[in-house]
Amino acid sequence: MTTFPALTGKRILVTGGSRGIGEATVRLLAQLGARVAFTYQARQDAAKVLVEALAAQGHEVLAFQADQRTREAAKRVVGNVEQAWGGLDAFVGNAGVWLPTPAELTDEDNLEAVLETNLTGLFRWNAEVVSALKRSGGGTIVLVSSTAGQRGEAGYGAYAASKGAVISLTKTLATELGPAGIRVNCVAPGWVDTDLSAAALRVDPAQRKRVEAIFPLGHIPVAEDIAGPIAFLLSEWAVAVHGEILNVNGGTVLCG
Ligand SMILES: NC(=O)c1ccc[n+]([C@@H]2O[C@H](COP(=O)([O-])OP(=O)(O)OC[C@H]3O[C@@H](n4cnc5c(N)ncnc54)[C@H](OP(=O)(O)O)[C@@H]3O)[C@@H](O)[C@H]2O)c1
Repeated sequence: MTTFPALTGKRILVTGGSRGIGEATVRLLAQLGARVAFTYQARQDAAKVLVEALAAQGHEVLAFQADQRTREAAKRVVGNVEQAWGGLDAFVGNAGVWLPTPAELTDEDNLEAVLETNLTGLFRWNAEVVSALKRSGGGTIVLVSSTAGQRGEAGYGAYAASKGAVISLTKTLATELGPAGIRVNCVAPGWVDTDLSAAALRVDPAQRKRVEAIFPLGHIPVAEDIAGPIAFLLSEWAVAVHGEILNVNGGTVLCG
């Protein structure tokens, strides 16, 4: 039987790896043989548990407290990874926040937090990562968007706009960086059962049932369901996939 291509020895940086989709991705990439560095913002406890669990299984994992909003943090983390492992081969731009910004905007702080984390910060991290990938002679980037970026989301305009921009950033980077041997793609999940969506999915069973009902497959994806497609896009099985938005939404939004 053909097995999934190993990512043996690949040096991969994942932002927002302490919880949710990022955590599942870190675990899977480590199991596929990669050396994985990940960032977190505040949950040092979760990051520590993850590092210790993977290290106990013999995996090489590094964790960094680093805010996706700042370029200084990106420079520091990328520099530390290059120092530890001699270079960087791949990047997963995953960290993000989902905060309400209704059309009649009442909360400027939310607006800034969403755009700075999901959009401008991601630009800054990409800038540092791209230089590092070029120093390594090429590599792979996977960014995490959302169905909100494809069809909009009532009450979450800044989030939807930020995720729409992640899609256009993916296509721009693919065009720009292909000649440098850097393959760039994006995943677009819909509802995923993580801490981010907990207030909508884990508090009110009736609300959860309403969300479940929009899934033709009948169940709400979990973080591991998104990690697999991310690993695929990073792997050699996706060598001809470039500038693509891979919908991982359980069929709730049939686009592409
Ligand atoms: N869950 C969904 O329904 C869903 C749907 C579509 C798209 N997405 C996207 O998928 C990505 C991951 O979401 P998730 O559901 O896994 O979220 P999550 O469970 O809330 O985890 C978010 C992760 O990002 C980190 N983070 C947040 N802000 C950060 C910042 N400024 N700098 C560095 N790290 C930061 C968090 O660190 P701490 O642990 O330290 O807080 C955590 O590791 C996001 O981009 C999100 O928009 C999620």
